[in-house]
Amino acid sequence: MSDMNTDNTVDPNIVEEEQPAMDAEEPDDGSDDIGSDALDRLQMLLDSAIASEEERAQLLTRFLAFMSGRRTLTYEERAFLSKPPPKPLISADIAGVAEYIRSGRAKNIIVMCGAGISVSAGIPDFRTPGTGLYYNLQKYNLEDPQMVFSIDYFRQDPKPFYELAKGLYPGQFHPTKAHYFVRLLHEHGLLLRDFTQNIDTLECIAGIPKEKTVFSHGSFASAHCVSCGKEYTPEFVRKKVFSDELAVCECGACVKPDIVFFGEKLPDAFFHHMVEDFPKCDLLIVMGTSLQVQPFAGLIGRVGDGVPRLLINMEVVAAKPVPPPADADEVERYRYRTSSKFAFNDPENLRDALFMGPCDDGVQALADALGWGKELQDMFGAPLPENPSL
Ligand code: OAD
Repeated sequence: MSDMNTDNTVDPNIVEEEQPAMDAEEPDDGSDDIGSDALDRLQMLLDSAIASEEERAQLLTRFLAFMSGRRTLTYEERAFLSKPPPKPLISADIAGVAEYIRSGRAKNIIVMCGAGISVSAGIPDFRTPGTGLYYNLQKYNLEDPQMVFSIDYFRQDPKPFYELAKGLYPGQFHPTKAHYFVRLLHEHGLLLRDFTQNIDTLECIAGIPKEKTVFSHGSFASAHCVSCGKEYTPEFVRKKVFSDELAVCECGACVKPDIVFFGEKLPDAFFHHMVEDFPKCDLLIVMGTSLQVQPFAGLIGRVGDGVPRLLINMEVVAAKPVPPPADADEVERYRYRTSSKFAFNDPENLRDALFMGPCDDGVQALADALGWGKELQDMFGAPLPENPSL
């Protein structure tokens, strides 16, 4: 895992979606059709941004016809391609999102979350100035506080991680309303997947089914030796952590819970569900994350253009700047339009909704607007399961 750089973590063989095979044969009736050089020409025109909006739509139309082995597209396909992106929400806020869900248009909701959803459980996040974990590691004199989650550093000195792990270890915390809201989405049959970056496994304790959760940055549920790869039980590591000892493998190297460290690849399930689920998503809810770590942060751009997205967070993150003026050059307007960041600053935005504040308040407001408020409160107030499976 790395900040803003996916090179050493994302295996392109896994993330690439299958491309339809190109037909090498040229269409036989003339220059107007796109031939086998289609990709190059299309790429050149799109990159150079010399084509107008309409020309670009026509090009794409012809390209799609070529790819599908047809010369022309249906009326509906043409209409779809030339239409501006839809505005799916009546208002870019909780009320707008609630109306969208109530209307039955959200059947496959994806939730993406980060450390902010566990803050009210007593687990600090990473980057909030003053309280975040990365601001409280001075005693280790690390060049960069993120080194505590760096695999190279762990091999040299696993102690800082082990000390930190004690404070984060699952089993000491109660899930928050944000976790229970995700379970509520599941119980209402609307949750497609919960992509979490968190390693506290509060999702499991809240009763979100395992198959609905993608632990994008791994978890404490399993552990391996960093040298010989031997597997160890989570209980083995837990005992060591709580007796202030290092978990050492019989080969002499250190054992590490299967948390994804900077410099390590994300779990296969992340890439699998990224490719399988995002095209089906009809509402994206992002909660409690600074969206600073790739490749997770890039997921927000994987839903379709017209799919509404709701950010519930203490601060605005991943927002596009204000839209360029109407007389801005084509390149600038093209860049703005195609950026996958949130369009909160666009006065015409009716796609990206924002609730700025604590996750628990945001999910309660949404649950109230959906008529699920009491259900959420009751779920949150219920006793924890005896032996949640992690
Ligand atoms: P960050 O600490 O980077 O971001 C947490 C976000 O949640 C910030 O934008 C906060 O403003 C917001 N926040 C904090 N408390 C909140 C609350 N009660 N309600 C709503 N929002 C709140 O945490 P992540 O984005 O999760 O890697 O960090 C991503 C990754 O960076 C982590 O998975 C971690 C770290 O390196 C590993 O653990 C391996």
